Amino acid sequence: MFKRLNHVAIAVNDLNKAIKKYKNIFGIRINDPIEQPLHGVKVAFIELPNTKIELLEPLGNESPLINFLKKNPNGGIHHLCYEVKNIIKCRDRILKNGGKIVGSFEPKVGAHGKLVIFLHPKEFDGTLIELEEI
Ligand code: CO
Repeated sequence: MFKRLNHVAIAVNDLNKAIKKYKNIFGIRINDPIEQPLHGVKVAFIELPNTKIELLEPLGNESPLINFLKKNPNGGIHHLCYEVKNIIKCRDRILKNGGKIVGSFEPKVGAHGKLVIFLHPKEFDGTLIELEEI
């Protein structure tokens, strides 16, 4: 069902600070931050040859990242994103087999303009999983 690992997302308290740190310490290029009000995040991507790293800062008072950062005050790995071919087929299979979807069962447009859903971390050993249709 899973294709490639699309990205690993890291929650940060201060996106600009995190970007500076990655640039200064590792000397790597990072795309400019993008605000995603629909998901309550501000995001910047580090593009690597085999995957991406997504740096996430909360956006707005309803951001799902606020609770995460309360539990993890220094920030931390927030989710893994796997690519899938047909998100509706995958969702139906997951629901049929007892998996749980976070929020709406209908896929939303994610950070790359593609459809995404999130699977509940309680079902997957504490790991929040994002599926992105490619
Ligand atoms: Co993501």
